[in-house]
Amino acid sequence: MKTYLITGGCGFIGSNFVRYILSNEKECRIVNLDKLTYAGNPKNLSDVDNDDRYIFVHGDICDEKVVDEIFSDYHPDIVFNFAAESHVDRSIGKPDDFIRADMFGVFTLLEAMKLHGGELFVQISTDEVYGSIEKGEFSETDPLMPSNPYSASKAGGDRLAYSYYVTYKLPVIVTRASNNYGPFQYPEKLIPLFITNALEDQPLPLYGDGKNVRDWLYVEDHCSALHFIMTNGVLGETYNIGGGNEMQNIEITRLILDHLSKPEGLIRFVEDRKGHDQRYALSINKLRQLGWEPKHDFTDGLRTTIDWYVSNNNWWRKIKSGEFREYYEQTYNLKVV
Ligand SMILES: NC(=O)c1ccc[n+]([C@@H]2O[C@H](COP(=O)([O-])OP(=O)(O)OC[C@H]3O[C@@H](n4cnc5c(N)ncnc54)[C@H](O)[C@@H]3O)[C@@H](O)[C@H]2O)c1
Repeated sequence: MKTYLITGGCGFIGSNFVRYILSNEKECRIVNLDKLTYAGNPKNLSDVDNDDRYIFVHGDICDEKVVDEIFSDYHPDIVFNFAAESHVDRSIGKPDDFIRADMFGVFTLLEAMKLHGGELFVQISTDEVYGSIEKGEFSETDPLMPSNPYSASKAGGDRLAYSYYVTYKLPVIVTRASNNYGPFQYPEKLIPLFITNALEDQPLPLYGDGKNVRDWLYVEDHCSALHFIMTNGVLGETYNIGGGNEMQNIEITRLILDHLSKPEGLIRFVEDRKGHDQRYALSINKLRQLGWEPKHDFTDGLRTTIDWYVSNNNWWRKIKSGEFREYYEQTYNLKVV
């Protein structure tokens, strides 16, 4: 039986991944270490709270003592490090939290595995570490050119994890996924923000000309890729994970409005984000050659996501009535009416 340490399991991707492992592995134990920042929500996992295979620890990945206790008490075989500050806009306003969690936090976890041992350490990185690309796609050996404090701190954590493989022979794999979407995503990110704003007949604040391009990966595909890499990936390697769905932000906005039968007049173009990368694109040939493919087509994934937000009104309305409102009004210079 494997013991997993999943950090950041109360966030968007982490909670989906905890659920994915529990549904795919009868015999396992999962320790979820989460600091419960504004983005961490224990309700994301309320359905597994009573599962004997699941243990929640409230704590910070930067806290050496807490991390050491987890390794001493539970001896995790496999670590998936999802815990991070994850929103670019917030990193522009307050980079220090990002540098701490996304770099120092990775260091603390790597040191613990170095001391206590373990089978595999998966560092969840992002395609944003490559920076923007006008044409073509990034592959895993391309240089990293992160251009905001979020992507720069993720690049630091990404390469630090790799350095522990090279220097200390720690069993590390790094994954770089594209933009995720799906259930339980905090409504500050583009897709859930626009779905929930449209449901409330609030404007949809679109940066610049709305023509920035991202690749979109349905969160369940991300989970299946990570699970696949865990058994088929090669130690020391880095794997891009993408959905093969490149879209301009304006196209996504129109799809959301169309699905909800809301007018295009809700679109509000706002001043562009500082240092906004124009296009992210990544090749997933390496992972494809190993045998993994994304299963979700964007239109279906988006429809399922929209339906989830429609049926889980209470979940996002509670979040949007809290600290979110002040953050939102300052970021977009828009009043919630
Ligand atoms: N969302 C995406 O599109 C995307 C794409 C590629 C990679 N990633 C990476 O995937 C990971 C998860 O992203 P997400 O969108 O689920 O993020 P999220 O913001 O929804 O969740 C982050 C979780 O980490 C926890 N956390 C933050 N700092 C912590 C700390 N110091 N100690 C313990 N827990 C802490 C938070 O409480 C929260 O539960 C991140 O590492 C992110 O960089 C995200």
